[in-house]
Amino acid sequence: MTEEKRQAIFDEAAEILKINDRGTYTVPTHGLYPFQWNWDSCLTAIGQSYVDEPRAWLEVETLFAHQWEDGMVPHIVFHQLDDGYFPGPDVWNTQRPVPTSGITQPPVAGFAVKRLFDRATDKSLAQERAKALISKIDQWHSWFYASRDPANEHLVALIHPWESGRDNSIDWDDAFERVPTEGIAPYTRRDTQHADPSHRPTKEQYDRYIWLVEHFRALNWDNTKLHDASPFQIVDPGFNAILIRSCADLADLAEALGENAIAERNRDRAQKGLAALDTLWSDKLGQYVCYDRAAGCLIESASVGGLLPILVSLPKHRGDALVARLSKISESCRYLVPSHDPLDARFDGKRYWRGPVWLIINYMITDGLRKSGYNDMALKIENASLELINTGGFAEYYHPTTGEPCGGGSFTWTAAMVMEFIRRAA
Ligand code: GLC
Repeated sequence: MTEEKRQAIFDEAAEILKINDRGTYTVPTHGLYPFQWNWDSCLTAIGQSYVDEPRAWLEVETLFAHQWEDGMVPHIVFHQLDDGYFPGPDVWNTQRPVPTSGITQPPVAGFAVKRLFDRATDKSLAQERAKALISKIDQWHSWFYASRDPANEHLVALIHPWESGRDNSIDWDDAFERVPTEGIAPYTRRDTQHADPSHRPTKEQYDRYIWLVEHFRALNWDNTKLHDASPFQIVDPGFNAILIRSCADLADLAEALGENAIAERNRDRAQKGLAALDTLWSDKLGQYVCYDRAAGCLIESASVGGLLPILVSLPKHRGDALVARLSKISESCRYLVPSHDPLDARFDGKRYWRGPVWLIINYMITDGLRKSGYNDMALKIENASLELINTGGFAEYYHPTTGEPCGGGSFTWTAAMVMEFIRRAA
């Protein structure tokens, strides 16, 4: 790809961030997702930092302004009413001054804020803004271990598939069967009015998503009760790797800012989490897998969640094995990294998190690969990502064999990640 082409793609990406900018936060895309989403915003800030550093800090600050008193940072902040989305604030009914959902999302904030800080050209601004954010991020991390790791296993559980960010992953098909569908209030989906229904979760999955929301709402969103009361408790290696990496990054950042207690606490969490992560390794699949905490067993399902641990400082033999796994997957699909193993009979290249490629995942995996010196594989994934954009535009996700763009268009975090791929490799 020529330098001019790369610059043109970068400029187009910056334009998408602007179009989706609502002043103090950015919507993932117009129509389908009209509010602020947690991990979307943190990853978006990384792209914004290339064009406007104060605006990038503000994106994360707006999210943390809606942190709950118990430390949780919600997955959606409903800044303004929009009945084009379901489930809206009335369904969640979390009784917040500005309505939010009642569950969380992958904690990329520590990782993202460290990135903003490291690359800041305005160092004094970065010091001031980072200093105010790190204690909030630390409180969120404390919340995770207090509310989602009650037995002190150093691994946290998800209690709703939406928390994973990989909503309809094959990983939890079996566990999700235990969630009832009876008794929920009648509802009308809105996502299928904005996007092709064959690219989206099924009706049965949606009923279960809503059953869980109603169940937690009946417990007044009390996080001292929700984990144990949930029939769905999944320990996802990808989610935990993100948390471990954010703890490690927050520790480094806190140290640089002279906040030693925060640094120590998060370094300890990262170390213990890393050791515990190894219990999720599957020799059979050659990668990490989820653990079904409610049923007490590992789940045999080879998704990208089990490759994301490359983000953390793994022992060399584990890192090598994950790179071998990526090579193997590349033999059966053109564009890396599919969200599920293409050789699995349940793989579906069009349906959301059951096969498609997502650029935010590619970004995190390549970050981990480069950190550990696996540069050839990183380059391969970066090139595949740019090719997808070049041929399919800034889609929500892509078919891993045909490259077909799927889901919503003009997608914010896809644009932000492209900026990162272009500038990071420059
Ligand atoms: C979908 C994705 C989730 C994302 C949200 C907004 O629900 O699965 O990861 O945060 O859309 O883009």
